[in-house]
Amino acid sequence: MKENSVSRRKFLLTSAALAASVPLLTKAQALDKMARPAKGNFPVKAISSANGEKATKRAYEMLLAGKDTLDAVIAGVNIQEDDPKDISVGLGGLPNENGVVELDSAVMHGPSHKAGAVAAIQKIRNPSKVAKLVMTQTDHVLLVGEGAFRFARAHGFQEENLLTEKARKIWLYWKQSLSNKDDWVPPPDSELDPDVAKFFGRPAGTIHCSGMNANGDISCVTTTSGLSFKIPGRVGDSPIIGAGLYVDNEIGSCGSTGRGEANLQNLCSFAAVELMRSGMSPKDAGIEILKRVKAHTENRLLDEKGRPEFGLRFYLLSKDGSHTGVSMWGPAKFAVTDKNGTRLEDCATLFEKD
Ligand code: GLY
Repeated sequence: MKENSVSRRKFLLTSAALAASVPLLTKAQALDKMARPAKGNFPVKAISSANGEKATKRAYEMLLAGKDTLDAVIAGVNIQEDDPKDISVGLGGLPNENGVVELDSAVMHGPSHKAGAVAAIQKIRNPSKVAKLVMTQTDHVLLVGEGAFRFARAHGFQEENLLTEKARKIWLYWKQSLSNKDDWVPPPDSELDPDVAKFFGRPAGTIHCSGMNANGDISCVTTTSGLSFKIPGRVGDSPIIGAGLYVDNEIGSCGSTGRGEANLQNLCSFAAVELMRSGMSPKDAGIEILKRVKAHTENRLLDEKGRPEFGLRFYLLSKDGSHTGVSMWGPAKFAVTDKNGTRLEDCATLFEKD
């Protein structure tokens, strides 16, 4: 019997046990289960993927200054979106297979439970800001492609070429070395640009940031250029509410980075928040979700030991004031800023590299 079938059976048993032991709770029951600080005494904090130390710092400062929780986390990730050196987000993000940068982002505002998102948007460097306008200035939640671009232009966003020289060179080398059945030929190793030499794989990156203020209000944002060299039009998990991020202001939030397809098939952020509602700690909820993803992973994506070969991480913030990062593979870090300063903390992991 294949390893994956065993894992799947185990998962079904685990899920059945979980379902039996974790009834859906009313809001009042969930509140009873979770010890929480009094309004005004919640620990102010921002957490992020490991690339977000600056983001959490900026978000934290804005939270302390009394700014809206969503404005704070968006301002945080704007640092990354504006940074041409970051090849996973906004300006400078790696392009699709045709060399065109397409960005995805979603925002969710805990106090109002409203959300906005854009997917496969081109030529606009701050998709997170556009996502917020979808939330506040339309009756919709998600705009895609040309429609999202026109909406951003209508709101005065500047149209620009997001493909930096660095990203273009990495994409070109990927294209040149893709196949020996076409007419593209890579340069000899001796002539390889140092910018390119560092990126032989298909780098993926994203930034998620969530923040809590002293009243316990929580908001979050996820923004990305998605899977590098993707098929044009591919949309990952980041702009999908419940996958790339989710917040229930009474319970907590979850957001993700990593293989979007695995998250989309399991709607992990929503599921993780629901597990926290049932009384699980952020760490237990995150690890349970990673096990669920593993159990649902098809054989072609598993290694010889039945472990998913891809990376997937979640960042969870609980209304009780606790937080965690969890990762399919370790070692892995995530960023935090709170009263103890800005730092990287270790993620809890499902597997460690051999
Ligand atoms: N998690 C980012 C993506 O898959 O697009």
